[in-house]
Parts: sequence; structure tokens; C-alpha cells
Amino acid sequence: MHLLIPAAGSGRRMGSQRNKLLLTLLGKPLLSWTLAAAEASQHISWIGIMGQPDDFPDFKAIVSDLSLAKPVELIQGGATRQESVYNGLQALPPNADRVLIHDGARCLATAELFDRSAEALLTCPGLIVAVPVKDTIKVVDERRIVRDTPDRSNLWAAQTPQGFEVKLLKQCHEEGRQKGWEVTDDAALFEKCGLPVQIVEGEETNLKVTTPVDLALAEFILRQRTE
Ligand code: C5P
Repeated sequence: MHLLIPAAGSGRRMGSQRNKLLLTLLGKPLLSWTLAAAEASQHISWIGIMGQPDDFPDFKAIVSDLSLAKPVELIQGGATRQESVYNGLQALPPNADRVLIHDGARCLATAELFDRSAEALLTCPGLIVAVPVKDTIKVVDERRIVRDTPDRSNLWAAQTPQGFEVKLLKQCHEEGRQKGWEVTDDAALFEKCGLPVQIVEGEETNLKVTTPVDLALAEFILRQRTE
């Protein structure tokens, strides 16, 4: 199965001048942990990484240091995650019928999670990995007055990998571009097009490294795993 890794973001919320995926985590760049899990997955056979061209020399060095057995292609990312994934979809080889999409910033996802997602994708057109929400979630208005408290038992926090039939996801992205939909994950486009998105149980440790606290947590979790 083909895997696309959006990796074209910045380090803004991390307070970093450079792409947060190039920050060091236990002595290795963050992106190399993500790639190592993808390499270890039995089902992934091809990896596309969407990045900003300025980062390509670093990405190439990471890929070469890992000596990956799987083919890796660097693809120019866009101004938003949505645009980066759009570019990735255009760059997939013609034989790609199903694709997993996994944020480079989720560097703790395990090879088992990739495999579980890939296997589930053989029986449904679209899926996300997700975990039940632990906090009570509030809907607030622009004055920060709470407007609603949704029933927590129906709420799941979306993670990646997310997986889709390529033909359907491409159609959803095209419709999204035409209609000006702005979304933060690919499942949202699928939903807006009326297509079903299946939940696959995610991993509590599969956090998205966004702020310095996440980086410290990721380091703690990885240290436990490697000890
Ligand atoms: O910013 P955030 O962490 O939510 O981004 C999620 C993922 O999307 C990250 O791996 C980031 O590198 C990627 N991204 C991208 N292109 C952008 C913005 C973010 O590929 N323009």
C-alpha cells in the first residue's frame, strides 16, 4: 500500500524557526522516527513525503541515513496541509488504488498501527484512526461563551494514519477546491462529500508533536520504548 506523509509545515506553534519535523528527538530528527515506523510496516510498499523544497536536502539526508528498503519520493508541499495532500495525491504512481496518509508530526505511531489501518482499508472506502475523547468538550462562540456540551460518549479524537480509496479521495479534494472548503484532515472532505469514514482504534501515545510540551512527552515515550 502507498503512504503519503505531509511534512511541509513550519515550526510556528513549536516556537521554532525551522520545520519542527527536523527538530531532534532522542538524537534523531523527528521525521526519521515516523519513517522508521513506516519502513517497519509490512503493508507499506512506497512512501511519498510532501515538503517545502528548502527542507529537501535535510529530508534526503534523513532518508539516506535510514537506508530505507522502500522507495521514497519527495513531493513539493503546499501552503496548507490540504494543498500538500492534494499534491501528494497527484504524485502517486498510477497503480495506487488505496492510500494511507500520515502526518509526519505523529512520530510515535507504531508499525502495528500502520498495518492495522492498511488491513482495515481493504474492506472500506475511507477510515481514520481515532481514540475516545477523555476531556469534556465545549463548543464556544466568538466571545468564548460556552454554547454546547456534546455527549462525550460520541466523541473521538482523530489521528492519522487516515486511509482512502485514491479515486474517491481525489474526487473529494477536487470538489473541496472548487467549493473552497478548508479542512484540517482528509476525512473531513470525505464526510462533506457524503462518503462514510470508518473508525479504527488508534493509540493513546500517537500524539501530534505541535508544542514544546509534546516534544518532551514524545521523548519520554520513545525513551521508554527504546530502553
Ligand atoms: O501544523 P500541523 O502539525 O497540524 O500539521 C499537520 C501535518 O501536516 C504536519 O506533519 C505538517 O508538516 C503537515 N503540513 C503540510 N503542509 C502544510 C502544513 C502542514 O504538509 N502546508
